[in-house]
Amino acid sequence: MQNIVILTGAGLSAESGLGTFRDQHGLWTKYDLNDVATPEGFARNPALVHDFYNARRANCLGASPNAAHAALARLQRAAPDRVCLVTQNVDDLLERAGAVDVVHMHGQLNRALCADCGHRWDAPQVMAPSAPCPACARAATRPDIVWFGEYPYHLDRIDRALMRADLFVAIGTSGNVYPAAGFVQQAAAAGAATLELNLEASATAALFEDTRLGPASQIVPAWVAEVLAHWGG
Ligand code: APR
Repeated sequence: MQNIVILTGAGLSAESGLGTFRDQHGLWTKYDLNDVATPEGFARNPALVHDFYNARRANCLGASPNAAHAALARLQRAAPDRVCLVTQNVDDLLERAGAVDVVHMHGQLNRALCADCGHRWDAPQVMAPSAPCPACARAATRPDIVWFGEYPYHLDRIDRALMRADLFVAIGTSGNVYPAAGFVQQAAAAGAATLELNLEASATAALFEDTRLGPASQIVPAWVAEVLAHWGG
């Protein structure tokens, strides 16, 4: 088992207290994603969108990585050139657990983007529509988050990693949002083994050769320990 590509979703950070989206009390049961996670929503009401992400940024600041984040960071440290950590999550809990070079395909809460000139910078804790861009000074500041209808980041790099993968593991994602939900098929077509780690079966469960169900904080460290033992770690 040489090259491993790991895709994580909101379930990885659920036990750290960050909300998921589609579970019983998920974020999309409280907010209309069209208002807070689309370019049209931002154009209509930028203050509402900033309030939404300011609340998520504060929630993230108050959260801590859980045993699953720590286990993935441990796995990556054991073989950095063989483990590619792709995440749909916009929190920095993997980084705070010691992971590096995490591929944030949906952007990051702690980064800001100028909708006019494309400049990116470290986001302050609280962002407002009136905040001027540090580069062009125009008040076009937005969270550096990929919204519905926008193109995810780093897809070329992810495609290359999937082509080389011997194992593709999806952790804590419902398999509802593409292109991430299609990675399992890309990896399998390239000859990789596929494993899903989730609290319950995802929409794409049938596409995985192997599935383990349980809380990420328990089943991810157990799986990582097996891989490290197999690698002689
Ligand atoms: N341990 C493991 N998995 C869990 C846990 C847990 N403790 N709690 C919940 N889960 C799983 C659920 O079973 C579900 O499969 O996490 C998944 C959460 O699914 P979603 O809320 O749909 O989150 P995600 O799959 O990450 O959403 C993908 O949709 O809204 C967009 O951009 C947003 O990145 C997000 C994308």
